[in-house]
Amino acid sequence: MKTISWRCPSNIALVKYWGKTGIQLPCNPSISFTLRHAYTDMAVSYEKTTATSFSLDFLFENQPNEKFKDKIVKFIHTHWEKLNFLQGFHLHIQSTNSFPHSTGIASSASSMGALTLTLCSLEDEIKETSTPTAEFLQKASFLARLASGSACRSVYPHLAVWGATAAVAGSSDNYAVPFTAFHPIFKTYQNRILIASSKEKAVSSRAGHALMNNHPFAKVRYEQANNHLNNLVVALQTGDIEAFTDITEQEALTLHALMMNSSPSVILMQPNTLVVLDLIKEFRATTKLPIAYTLDAGPNIHLLFPQDIASQVDTWLDAVVKPYLENGRIIRDEVGEGATKF
Ligand code: PMV
Repeated sequence: MKTISWRCPSNIALVKYWGKTGIQLPCNPSISFTLRHAYTDMAVSYEKTTATSFSLDFLFENQPNEKFKDKIVKFIHTHWEKLNFLQGFHLHIQSTNSFPHSTGIASSASSMGALTLTLCSLEDEIKETSTPTAEFLQKASFLARLASGSACRSVYPHLAVWGATAAVAGSSDNYAVPFTAFHPIFKTYQNRILIASSKEKAVSSRAGHALMNNHPFAKVRYEQANNHLNNLVVALQTGDIEAFTDITEQEALTLHALMMNSSPSVILMQPNTLVVLDLIKEFRATTKLPIAYTLDAGPNIHLLFPQDIASQVDTWLDAVVKPYLENGRIIRDEVGEGATKF
């Protein structure tokens, strides 16, 4: 029996993907930071069987997990045309996350990224091919998109763009591409996830995107997202932290405003989300430090800033912000190097 293992990180969007058509095709381009410490490790052992179909067993954190197993089986069956090299094989899949559940870190991004990277390696081994790296990652990103939308951005280091945009050569709705022409300051970016609440999300990702169907502001939102993407690309290239902050924070609040304006209306922020956003603005106004926040589809705040101010920011977080967080919880992460095979 042979084993293939991949580690795939999660990502946090700066310009948000919110609204889709078809099979996870985005209604607007998005861009994200790839994280370092929040990741999924997936190991797949495989053996040839006498059966004509394929089969698998799945352990999550060393325990059988039927829900996730069913999700993988369904994914493989749905896209069998692309995955039929699995015919006649049994897979033993083991997966662990580096981060706890319900912390507002998207586990489907890292887990679906890890799964599709592993499947692409498996294809190379079974077919005895060696796909060149760029093509390999593109294929894994394509499959990750089919599995879980924004997961497609997770396979690349630092920054990745998903969705066709004239601002980024080679960009596509079908898969993410690495965004490499950025100012070096962004390689050092830190992400502190400030846990306002770890309660399960009130709205699933699927239901969330569906809120954009017939949304009264959909058209103008997609235009805004395109403009934000164009301007953010320039800010990232030139190291314009003011523009970076402005766009990133507008995106975060727009995401939540869109949900509040949806039918049915959804409010995912908690009282302490707003308290902490106020504290961030106040700290920035007094210190002039380059801190920026973003929010995912949940109540927790992702604070973004360059590494060279980390000790000042962390001291302030501990002293001032912690009391407003659930169990004083802060998760430390930073921009990472993308997925790795091990
Ligand atoms: O990939 P999904 O379906 O989980 O949607 C992700 C949606 C956001 O996290 C809110 C934005 C994004 O671009 O990651």
